[in-house]
Amino acid sequence: MYTEKVMDHFQHPRNVGEIENASGVGTVGNAKCGDIMRIYLDIDDNQIIRDVKFKTFGCGAAVATSSMATEMVKGKSIQEAMEVTNKAVMEALDGLPPVKVHCSLLAEEAIHAALWDYAEKHGIKIEGLKKPKSDIHEGEEAEEEEY
Ligand code: FES
Repeated sequence: MYTEKVMDHFQHPRNVGEIENASGVGTVGNAKCGDIMRIYLDIDDNQIIRDVKFKTFGCGAAVATSSMATEMVKGKSIQEAMEVTNKAVMEALDGLPPVKVHCSLLAEEAIHAALWDYAEKHGIKIEGLKKPKSDIHEGEEAEEEEY
């Protein structure tokens, strides 16, 4: 059911932990399954993501996608990190089973929430960034059938 890359990131997740005095912290949940994801970002003065860590109470797919997502945003600029979508993360993992696609949204949304937190703290605007949802299903009921 899972690709080798998903299994690898699930069994050996990268960047697990937390960052003290993080530049931005984002937490999102999935009310349907009760899983929660928290992402910590350390962003330097040039708006480069120096470090990133995550913590989760989540399923294997949420762990694997978050692990991969943290690898993909580390060392990147804020704008580059905005391009790390759940789709890009899934592609990097060679795919996820269709029923697990929604799990990959936790990582994307948590990164966006952490960037939002950073932007608020620094009084800046990040192009393309919308106010984060605290639950990934907020306002997405209509799409539910597709999962
Ligand atoms: Fe909840 Fe995967 S089942 S995030």
